[in-house]
Amino acid sequence: MALHSETLEQFLSRTHEAVPGGLAALSFLLTHVGLVGKLLSRDLRVAGLLNVLGTTGETNVQGETVKKLDEIANETCVRVFQQSGVVCALVSEEMEKPVIISNERQQVPYIVLFDPLDGSSNTDVNMPLGSIFSIVAPSRADLPPNERDLLRKGTDQVAAGYLLFGPSTMLVITAGKGVHGFTLDPGLGEYLLSHEDMKIPARGKMYAVNEGNYQKWTGEMRRYFDHLKVEDKATGRPYSGRYSGCLVADVHRMLLNGGIYLYPGEVKKPEGKLRLLYEANPLALIVEQAGGLASTGTKRVLDVEPQKLHQRVPLIIGSRDDVREAEHFLHGQA
Ligand code: AHG
Ligand code: MN
Ligand code: MN
Repeated sequence: MALHSETLEQFLSRTHEAVPGGLAALSFLLTHVGLVGKLLSRDLRVAGLLNVLGTTGETNVQGETVKKLDEIANETCVRVFQQSGVVCALVSEEMEKPVIISNERQQVPYIVLFDPLDGSSNTDVNMPLGSIFSIVAPSRADLPPNERDLLRKGTDQVAAGYLLFGPSTMLVITAGKGVHGFTLDPGLGEYLLSHEDMKIPARGKMYAVNEGNYQKWTGEMRRYFDHLKVEDKATGRPYSGRYSGCLVADVHRMLLNGGIYLYPGEVKKPEGKLRLLYEANPLALIVEQAGGLASTGTKRVLDVEPQKLHQRVPLIIGSRDDVREAEHFLHGQA
């Protein structure tokens, strides 16, 4: 039996006493992210028995078919954050409009932007899934949040985290003081610290990309990808390909082992597929806090000025040297 490690709450009170909005509120909010993880983990563990697989028949604001588990995950997130009392607005990949939570209590400190279920193509085949959370503070706590409060640069994030539903359920968070991973002990119903102060290797030997898009890529992206497959022992090439269909799972692998995840812009879709506010920004904050980089190919993800709630960006994220090398190719300098 593993020794008792620190719980999420114990760890936060020991390490994050002074964060914007106050430790108590942030700690309280992150425990609600943990509650979402417990609820979804319970459902996902027996999804095949609950008649929750397959699609709802609806199409979401992304133009994507909505899986039943997308809807369940979204409803779970909305309910938990509404009940938390520390959230004044919600933005979800699965909801076209934001949810403004009218709280009588003033000083409601946080806005949560989230991807309730990441890797939806994996729901019916029992492959890894995730949830991604970005947390910002409204510009003024005494007024309901406005559009400007929601369209924030990634550098404005107070905290970010993801849940990974794999063989174990993990919660990985940053509040600007490093990246820390917790593993859910279902028997205890507690998240226990299992990966303190995660640091991503400066370079890896793996790439995660959907190679099926090769013909859609720009010449620069193809040249970078071809470069990764040339034999060169000194630089660990050829890299191995590992692509799960779940951004959270692939980025988690890179965070631990090093390497690079790419969902680049394409000739006909220069903006790429992944969404800035609740996929790229939170993961970029986490990976940068762990010593890695996150780029659109031409600029730092966290510096992108959002224009629309569901806007997409190309995402090249992972080990520092790998991302820099990819940018070198994508800038046409190689
Ligand atoms: P989501 O399920 O939230 O729409 O995210 C899916 C994303 C990401 O998780 C994954 O890496 C990528 O889309 C897979 O896209 P392709 O199937 O086009 O490779
Ligand atoms: Mn996603
Ligand atoms: Mn999703």
